[in-house]
Amino acid sequence: MDKQKNLFNLRKDYTLGGLSLYQVLPNPLAQFNLWFEQALYAELPEPNAMTLATASAGGRISSRVVLLKEIDETGFVFYTNYNSQKAADLKSNPNAALSFLWLELERQVRIEGVVERVSGEESDTYFNSRPRESQLGAWASDQSAVIQSREQLFENYKQLEEAYKDKPIPRPPHWGGYRLIPQMIEFWQGRPGRMHDRIRYIRSTETNPWERKRLAP
Ligand SMILES: Cc1cc2nc3c(=O)[nH]c(=O)nc-3n(C[C@H](O)[C@H](O)[C@H](O)COP(=O)(O)O)c2cc1C
Repeated sequence: MDKQKNLFNLRKDYTLGGLSLYQVLPNPLAQFNLWFEQALYAELPEPNAMTLATASAGGRISSRVVLLKEIDETGFVFYTNYNSQKAADLKSNPNAALSFLWLELERQVRIEGVVERVSGEESDTYFNSRPRESQLGAWASDQSAVIQSREQLFENYKQLEEAYKDKPIPRPPHWGGYRLIPQMIEFWQGRPGRMHDRIRYIRSTETNPWERKRLAP
């Protein structure tokens, strides 16, 4: 009961800034880059951490955090295991959503779109840039599978470390990137009294122009 009361009283007024239709950039990817630069400048912890929501063919929704590893004019790239639960979802239903929470800046960005795999070359380039420990981890972990123990995982890792001693580690075929191609991007800036600013960009196809509108908070 006391805990419930504490949650009732847990709130913060947002006062850092505002957002208008005329102030944001015409291209939401450019606007995202601007906010991302500001998140980096503010030295937020892991500003590239984003929640990825996926849906199974049957409509079961799940979400988890992944790291944004590239952003270009086509979309948002993250890397993962192609045998994971999220990959199974994306195979049967490529619709997905991302959200960034940059609390210290009182900002949220929401993105919706369709996901496709990046090319093998693009995944290789990123995989080759990773530390050896992470490369071995990608081989050692059958992501999302039930395992007997942490020891078993560590044993896999040790065996791989031995097998690849003094050798370059190739990218596992079951590991690589996805690019989410956005159809909707919304920028949210907290304002006092819950009168927040929301600017949403939508385009009906990848080649159509972006339209931006203000939404009620
Ligand atoms: C800060 C943070 C960053 C993460 N980054 C990634 C990532 O880039 N790729 C990834 O596959 N999992 C990442 N994870 C782990 C995922 O949240 C998740 O546990 C894993 O991908 C399995 O999800 P699934 O079973 O739904 O496929 C990260 C977790 C956290 C908390």
